[in-house]
Amino acid sequence: MIQKQFKLNDGNTMPSFGLGTWNSKKGLVGEAVKYAILEAGYKHIDCAAVYGNEKEIGEAFDEIFKSGKVKREDIFITSKLWNTNHKKEDVLKACVKTLNDLKLDYLDLYLIHWGIAFKSGKENEPLDSEGYIKTANVSVHETWETMQELVDKGLVKSIGVSNFSTQLILELLSYAKIKPVVNQIEVHPYNTQDLFLKYMAHENILVTAYSPLGSPGGLDAGEDLLLEDDVILALAKKYKKSPAQIALNWGIGRNVVIIPKSTTKARIKENIEALDFEMSVEDHDKISGLNRDYRFVDPIKWWNIPYFK
Ligand code: A2P
Repeated sequence: MIQKQFKLNDGNTMPSFGLGTWNSKKGLVGEAVKYAILEAGYKHIDCAAVYGNEKEIGEAFDEIFKSGKVKREDIFITSKLWNTNHKKEDVLKACVKTLNDLKLDYLDLYLIHWGIAFKSGKENEPLDSEGYIKTANVSVHETWETMQELVDKGLVKSIGVSNFSTQLILELLSYAKIKPVVNQIEVHPYNTQDLFLKYMAHENILVTAYSPLGSPGGLDAGEDLLLEDDVILALAKKYKKSPAQIALNWGIGRNVVIIPKSTTKARIKENIEALDFEMSVEDHDKISGLNRDYRFVDPIKWWNIPYFK
């Protein structure tokens, strides 16, 4: 299996395929990470403090790296700063907590999870009585300056962002001393993000595509299952691959990093095997034609804020 490495704009490299861990349940995620790295050949794990499972993932990393079978420097590990920790004094604390939970000395990549600051406190998503998220007056500028310090301190090798729009990126670029290396956003055949991907490439910011399978585990009423789309099913038959492998292979062909989540061993293996075949340009384009600019992950559902508008 050929795993491409992307060169980041700060000179570091990042494997094009990784394991996502959003919604990976406690009791399952540790085994999934061990299987992915030790058996299935994964070289990249995508984590976040808010997923609530970094401690268990840390136990798995500890076991893996202590076993001597795989070296720490051969695995690319990402985590993300949660929205309640954007203040200068909270960024370092949050990063150190993640490092302690993951049992690591450094992260390969640390991302600002969303370009919005929440009121700090015990709750991850503090809502007011009307169901609106309680925001905090913290600029991305303040947060980014502290992210840059984490690189200087050697706690993280690279820094980037997630869920950043063109406007937020432009603003950030106006003062960033270290440019973000990555913007992690939702990309799959129902949300192809063509123009945005082109713009990110122009800025030399690598895109990591989350929910590359169309988030089949968390569909709301009325949402369509990408993996049951007629076009995907027909191509699965044609190439003798699973629908998931077709969706992932399309993602791989778009020069983005993809991080499908699974805690099921057979699927973890199946997903990385999507690297092993090539679709024709016509079939790739047929999948791109499914675009409907649809986001499965839209914070309006949780925070009552039209974040992407
Ligand atoms: P599970 O973890 O139970 O295996 P996305 O990365 O787009 O958010 O998708 C994650 C969801 O897709 C999870 O619910 C995961 O379930 C499911 N999933 C992962 N791999 C596959 C696969 N190969 N076929 C079908 N569903 C999958």
